[in-house]
Amino acid sequence: MLDRVIAGEVPRKHHIALRGAGGELRYEECFTRDGFEGPYTILYHLRRPHTHEPAQVAHGWQLAPAEPGRALAKRHYVTPKIARRGGAPVDARVGLAFNRDVTVGVAFPDAADPCYVANADGDELFYVHEGGGVVRSVLGDLRFAQGDYVFLPATLPYRIIPDGAQYWLWFELTGGVHLPRQWRNEVGQLRMDAPYSHRDFKRTEHQGPIDEGLRELVVKRGGRWHGFRYQDSPLDVVGWDGTVYPWAFPILAFQPRVGLVHLPPTWHGTFAARGALICSFVPRPLDFHPDAIPCPYPHSSPGCDEILFYCSGNFTSRRGVGPGSVSHHPAGIPHGPHPGAYERSIGATRTDELAVMMDTEAPLQVTEAAVSVEDPGYHTSFI
Ligand SMILES: [Fe+2]
Repeated sequence: MLDRVIAGEVPRKHHIALRGAGGELRYEECFTRDGFEGPYTILYHLRRPHTHEPAQVAHGWQLAPAEPGRALAKRHYVTPKIARRGGAPVDARVGLAFNRDVTVGVAFPDAADPCYVANADGDELFYVHEGGGVVRSVLGDLRFAQGDYVFLPATLPYRIIPDGAQYWLWFELTGGVHLPRQWRNEVGQLRMDAPYSHRDFKRTEHQGPIDEGLRELVVKRGGRWHGFRYQDSPLDVVGWDGTVYPWAFPILAFQPRVGLVHLPPTWHGTFAARGALICSFVPRPLDFHPDAIPCPYPHSSPGCDEILFYCSGNFTSRRGVGPGSVSHHPAGIPHGPHPGAYERSIGATRTDELAVMMDTEAPLQVTEAAVSVEDPGYHTSFI
């Protein structure tokens, strides 16, 4: 959650009457997280927001089961090889790996969502590898572009309107996602020494009630999709006030740290979630000790599975990976640079790598979609 935003018409105090020009009473909706103790936004609707009736709505992505019997190994999944079936974002998600806290996948949508979508199983976070468009929600429109992370809070009804073909990395985070606490000061403001500031985030623009003529809603809960039909347009919000809303963050706005010697991934921590940390590796100067080894050191991290999505640039530690590659380095065995990369990196002064990384506490299981585009020689390529 970010800073508090007020948009449109709101009354001067919580939970008191707000009326239109003709005396019509507006209807408050308290959109809360963590029960009633966490961040919240209060919306004011033209109509009662809870009148949708059950309906058959045939939309929603499905997560394939875990592939059984996988050997412990370093893995590389070549996601550009996944068949691009297009369609609406709500139908286009392809899950690659998951555990109790997070699902990660790719999506190649090329059409607008034909209904409103709410994910009650967790927050969603996209990384827009290619594409751009608009997230339209009850809070307004959020425009996003290539290179943006896009955050969608759990259960907020939205639809995505892409500008043509897209290529996204996406996460569903069942425990929610937030900015790491170490980047906040005691009043919740982003610290001056944080790797981003409030100004770096794109927020929704609210323009008052609209009617797109759409009445259907699908809600994902417990891995199943549930259909509803609204009586009127759900985009009937005249104003809202709070800290829970969709936002976008351009990855290149992340301010990287550079040290005398190599800094661990925690310094690249961008978003935190229950059981996961998402990091951004962006172009930057490299370590400046005369004997520094800028290439990441081989490491064993018994508490983490690591997923790395390669966006662009030359990744100093790896060969055979390219844009759209996903490496999966599981807990239990060490991983590190490819042969020769460690030695060659000495004296390097700059990297142009761009990548998104996620460390997870619980082991990740993978789906058939990942296995179908696996690079079979990856594990032995380190020998
Ligand atoms: Fe690693």
